[in-house]
Amino acid sequence: MKLLFLGDVMGRAGRAAVTRRLPGLRSDWGLDFVVVNGENATSGAGLSAAHAKALLEAGADCLTLGDHAFDQKDMMAFIEQEPRIVRPLNYAKGAPGKGARVFTAPGGRKVLVAQALGQVFMKRPFDDPFSALDAVLKAQPLGGAVQAAVVDFHCEATSEKMAAGHWCDGRASLVVGTHTHVPTGDAQILRGGTAYLTDAGMCGDYDSVIGMDKAEPMRRFVTGMPKGRFEPAAGEATLSGVYVETDDRTGLATRVRMIRVGGRLEEATP
Ligand SMILES: [Fe+2]
Ligand SMILES: [Fe+2]
Repeated sequence: MKLLFLGDVMGRAGRAAVTRRLPGLRSDWGLDFVVVNGENATSGAGLSAAHAKALLEAGADCLTLGDHAFDQKDMMAFIEQEPRIVRPLNYAKGAPGKGARVFTAPGGRKVLVAQALGQVFMKRPFDDPFSALDAVLKAQPLGGAVQAAVVDFHCEATSEKMAAGHWCDGRASLVVGTHTHVPTGDAQILRGGTAYLTDAGMCGDYDSVIGMDKAEPMRRFVTGMPKGRFEPAAGEATLSGVYVETDDRTGLATRVRMIRVGGRLEEATP
C-alpha cells in the first residue's frame, strides 16, 4: 500500500496548499490512503467542521487532531457525525469521538489510524499514551485484522516520540510524530519493520515561527511582553510529511521517504 501522512495543517495557507496540491499528489503518486493532521487548520487553533470537510474533499481519507482537538467548539459535535476524524486516544476520559478507527482502502484493505498525546512538556497532563496504544495495536493486529496501521504520536519531546516508535515497532506500518511543526530528518524503517519519523513538520508557511506570523512571537521572545494575538503566517505553505510503501501481507514498511512540496523548503518526493 502507498500511504501519505501530512503534518499539522497551519491556518489558511496550509489549507490552501492541501486543497491545491493533494488531489494531484494522490494521482501522481498512486496513493492508496492519506492521513492529514488538521489540529491547526482553523486560524492555527483547532479544526472547524467546514475546514474538516474541505480537507476531506481535497483527498484526505482521515484527519487526525492533537492537543488543539476541540479548540473549535463545533468539532465537539462534528466528530460524532464524521467517522473520518480521529482525536487522541488519551485526550480526556469524556471526550467525544474516537482515538482509533479502522478504514477501508481500495481493494477492501483495512487501515488502522490511531493517535496518542505524549506527556513530556505538554501544557496539561494526559493519561499514559503507551498503554493506550498497546491496547489498540493488540485489538487490531497488523497482518491480521488490518493490512496497514498508522500511529500519529503528538507531542513536544523527540525522546518520547522515539520511544513510541520503538514501542510500536513491528506492530504499525508507520509511527510519525506531530505537534512541533518542524520536520526532522530521521525517516527510517525500524528493526521490526515500522516506518518512523520523529516529526512530520507542518503544512504551513515556514517563513514564520512554527507557522505563526513572526512579529508577535518575536516580540514576546525578545521583549518578554505580549502585545497582540498570534496569527498564522500567510505566505505559501510547504506540504510536509512522510510517504510509506507497505507489504499488504505483513503490513510492514518496505520504503519510507520524507515529503516536502511547495513553499520555502527544499523539495522531497517519493
Ligand atoms: Fe499540537
Ligand atoms: Fe500543531
